[in-house]
Amino acid sequence: MRTPLTELTGVRHPIVQTGMGWVAGPRLVTATANAGALGILASATMTPAELRAAVREVRSRTDRPFGVNLRADAGDARERVRIIVDEGVRVASFALAPSRDLIAELKDAGVVVIPSVGARRHAEKVAGWGADAVLVQGGEGGGHTGEVATTVLLPQVVDAVDIPVIAAGGFRDGRGLVAALAHGAAGIAMGTRFLLTSDSTVPDAVKARYLAATVKDITVTTAVDGLPHRMLRTEFVSSLERAGRVRGLTQAVRRAAGFRKLSGLSWAAMVRDGLAMRHGKDLSWSQILLAANTPMLLRASMVEGRTDLGVMASGQIAGVIEDLPGCEELVARIMSEAAQVLRALPHPEP
Ligand SMILES: Cc1cc2nc3c(=O)[nH]c(=O)nc-3n(C[C@H](O)[C@H](O)[C@H](O)COP(=O)(O)O)c2cc1C
Repeated sequence: MRTPLTELTGVRHPIVQTGMGWVAGPRLVTATANAGALGILASATMTPAELRAAVREVRSRTDRPFGVNLRADAGDARERVRIIVDEGVRVASFALAPSRDLIAELKDAGVVVIPSVGARRHAEKVAGWGADAVLVQGGEGGGHTGEVATTVLLPQVVDAVDIPVIAAGGFRDGRGLVAALAHGAAGIAMGTRFLLTSDSTVPDAVKARYLAATVKDITVTTAVDGLPHRMLRTEFVSSLERAGRVRGLTQAVRRAAGFRKLSGLSWAAMVRDGLAMRHGKDLSWSQILLAANTPMLLRASMVEGRTDLGVMASGQIAGVIEDLPGCEELVARIMSEAAQVLRALPHPEP
């Protein structure tokens, strides 16, 4: 199936596996690329050296195109952009709108730039700055998320910009792909569905929690870092919501210290990143520390397998996912279902 997304990035199928912190590593990205979809490495939870090594690892296992996701507001975003350019990565995906300069630098080097947005005005802004496509995430999507559902946001963004739009938030199958295309999208991007594959390195106990979840077990909370964040509702999340300010903050400082050690960031860099993440909102030091704390909570689940002590970011779609296919099987299944759905659509009377 050819769409502006496949043309732009050189992948076979109009499907993207998004950059999920601690989840979208070389193994998942390679499996996605080999399945003919666009895999995106998550770099916000890697040091620059780890990013370079991860890119080389993917490159050594596949000759298909892939991408790297980074935070445009990270203090070392420029260094990461250099790695993307030096290593010949095909796509740069941004968690927040990148600056005009960063877009220009990447485009000059022939890298395809695809920022993620959660609102029409952000899509308009990055389109005006020369982004090649936008990925728009509706409120049902996992991780940090907005309030507007994909079915409302997607056509709104499609109408507002004249670059390809990739739909994210709530997709898992061929029906969803056809629906997104009908709304004018160039393809779909999925996080939760790719997390729940046999190729993802997320520990089995954690995958089991996702599979067991019903749609009602997935919630949006601001208790983790002050921003609306969609995840599985667990006893731990409820306890964060109940914890008083002081207790929550003490725990956050401890975990932020752990992330600082792991990531090699200085406190100053972490505070700068935290400040940028607050994005000009009403700031408090406790919120900044909480923001720095998020990666550690995600890591506790996604790497260490702690279902009791971590954050399991999840889209609502986890409530209706019940299996763990490999990426190859998943992508093939979506494409054949999409073809079937297209054939079965009612046609207007001549
Ligand atoms: C476990 C998890 C971690 C995520 N981490 C990131 C991240 O580091 N950067 C980012 O831009 N988006 C992140 N997201 C959001 C996804 O990239 C994607 O936009 C979202 O999952 C799409 O919705 P879906 O889960 O319904 O497919 C994350 C999502 C999940 C489920």
